[in-house]
Amino acid sequence: MKILIINGPNINMLGIREIDIYGNRSYETLINYIRDYCIKKYIDAEFFQSNHEGGIIDKIQGAYGVFDGIIINPAAYTHTSIAIYDALKAVALPAVEVHLSDTYVREEYRKISYIRPACINSIQGLGFDGYILAIDYLREYIRK
Ligand code: DQA
Repeated sequence: MKILIINGPNINMLGIREIDIYGNRSYETLINYIRDYCIKKYIDAEFFQSNHEGGIIDKIQGAYGVFDGIIINPAAYTHTSIAIYDALKAVALPAVEVHLSDTYVREEYRKISYIRPACINSIQGLGFDGYILAIDYLREYIRK
């Protein structure tokens, strides 16, 4: 099983940005945490982070025919990007949306996710563990 894990803008600033919300662990720590889990589960994982909407769209398009599924935290683009939604619909790969924080209890505008309807599940507010749950969910979905 080959999965693509995409993180959007400012996720590379983990450990520096708003520690009260996102915690003090870095993006590199997040990647290592997920990678270790994937190795244990014999999952082939590729990681991609971009601060640019077009870069994320190019990566989603490139996943077609290459990956079995996508885990995506589009960060702020969650709340603005019809283009990322369209890209996910275009490739039609099973995708799980993840957010480190609970976007339902923050500002009103964070409650809206344009990409959610293109995803098979959405996991919020569980920090790093949200990615692990997303991988488990995706794995079960693909196996069936
Ligand atoms: C986030 C939530 C978004 O609202 C925010 O813009 C982010 C991170 C999260 O993981 O909690 O950058 O996606």
